[in-house]
Parts: sequence; structure tokens; C-alpha cells
Amino acid sequence: MTARRLPGPERPPIGFTLDGAAMTGLAGDTIAAALLVAGIRRVRITSAGEGRGLWCGMGVCWECLIEVSGEGTMRACVTELREGMVLRLRAGTGPHPA
Ligand code: FES
Repeated sequence: MTARRLPGPERPPIGFTLDGAAMTGLAGDTIAAALLVAGIRRVRITSAGEGRGLWCGMGVCWECLIEVSGEGTMRACVTELREGMVLRLRAGTGPHPA
């Protein structure tokens, strides 16, 4: 199942990349919101090979860590998407940042 947007005010599109693939979100989206609407639920893979994505959705659990070029590891659920962001899925780094 893919997330969908609720009706609301018009917002300008924002371009970003995920592992080199060009994607589009909307101004005001969090990284997580933009990825969910694009059908992407997994943002990292633990050292045990398990996929992780949103859990709490409010910045508490740290399950949604994603690499943001120039900024390091960020929580996708509380980080606002910005034009030109370069995102990479994290792999093999365990449940919390080292
Ligand atoms: S989903 Fe829990 S911190 Fe982002």
C-alpha cells in the first residue's frame, strides 16, 4: 500500500535524489513524507540485514535514519525536505548511530 496526500493548499515541487534516482516531493514535506508518497518504506538496513523505516513518526525512536549529503545522518520523519537534497539509504550500521 502506498501513502497518498490529503487535499490541501498547493505547494511547489521540490527535487531531490535517493541513491542517485531523481525524485520529487512538495515544499513542507519531511523526507519521510516524500519517500512514503513515492512508495519507499525502508530507509536503512541494520547490520543484521533487516530493513527499517518509520516507526514512531515523531522523532523519538531513531528507526528512520537516512544519510543526507553534507549533513550526515538525519531522522527522516523530522527533517524537512529541501531542494537538491542528496539522500542515501544507510546500510549495516545497526539500530542507532555509532
Ligand atoms: S520514525 Fe521514529 S524517529 Fe523517525
